[in-house]
Amino acid sequence: MLDWSDTSPSSAKNSSPPPAPPSSAGIGLGEIDRAGGRVSVDEKRMINCRADVNQLLPLKYKWAWEKYLSGCNNHWMPTEVSMQADIALWKSRDGLTDDERRMIKRNLGFFAASESLVANNIVLAIYRHLTNPECRQYLLRQAFEEAVHTHTFQYIVESLGLDEGELFNMYREIPSITDKAAWALKHTQHLDDPDFKTGAPEADQAFLRDLVAFYVVFEGMWFYTGFAQILSLGRRNKMVGVAEQYQYILRDESIHLNFGIDVINQIKIENPHLWTKSFQDELRAMLKDAADLEAAYGRDTMPRGFLGLNAALCEQYMHFIANRRCAQLGLSPVFAETDNPFPWMSEAMDLKKEKNFFETRVIEYQNGGALSWD
Ligand SMILES: [Fe+2]
Ligand SMILES: [Fe+2]
Repeated sequence: MLDWSDTSPSSAKNSSPPPAPPSSAGIGLGEIDRAGGRVSVDEKRMINCRADVNQLLPLKYKWAWEKYLSGCNNHWMPTEVSMQADIALWKSRDGLTDDERRMIKRNLGFFAASESLVANNIVLAIYRHLTNPECRQYLLRQAFEEAVHTHTFQYIVESLGLDEGELFNMYREIPSITDKAAWALKHTQHLDDPDFKTGAPEADQAFLRDLVAFYVVFEGMWFYTGFAQILSLGRRNKMVGVAEQYQYILRDESIHLNFGIDVINQIKIENPHLWTKSFQDELRAMLKDAADLEAAYGRDTMPRGFLGLNAALCEQYMHFIANRRCAQLGLSPVFAETDNPFPWMSEAMDLKKEKNFFETRVIEYQNGGALSWD
């Protein structure tokens, strides 16, 4: 708890637990507790924390702080990537097949609104209930990165001269995209209820469901098919500017995903009573449903497939990814073991090995966090 007298040692806190604060205090907007002791690391908690959430230090969850630093080191802006080759290809009559154009447009349409859905979930649902300042520091960085990603789709639409109404409405008008957005939204809508607050097991599980829906499914499964689609074109030297932007987004999203996994696992450690067998089965069913929705999206965006990529391979990739996410959460797999059909995606995700295989221009940042092109 807070002590503004500046004289009390951090150990001089009341040994009996303080009464539960009003909800505004729990989120950081309550009255200042002039008589409280100083915050000690042991008091910090991911959810339902009573320690002051307005004090970043002392750090408890160093992994959250390190992800915040990594995010800052990875700073980029979409407008720094040249779109000249993409514009020429998109406007040429024979540069892309109709199947490739369909996939590109639906892929952009999926991401264009999804980045906003993810950002809204962070700001309007997660931030309030995640009662830890170092995690909140990362959420603030992540929220900015989601804005950069939304900016990317605005920049692509503008550069290629695409119909903005068509693209930004796909999440409402293309059923295979709408189904995914609606599936995720039902989990965040639950938290949007003004009377919702964590503290009871059912509510804490609802919060965990939201984290799984957005961090593990949206950012950790669905985005990955989208990355594979565009990066496979980039590997064939098509839409190289968009592919380079997707590589930067992938780098950001892999940290978002890992942050979400760490948050969920830490909540699990601190609240083992939430992680019941039936709750685990429910989460596994969520991941399986999500993979099925993605398979439908794959069939819709690639009805015939093209070189190196088709709906069946994307479905296999989703099964591989879903099992991997289960393992990261300590859940048993939901699909039969399968090989990764896109091993080159691991290469694209491995920051240390990243290189400019699209042969676009080198971008280097003073802070040393840029991709290190060979
Ligand atoms: Fe994003
Ligand atoms: Fe993200």
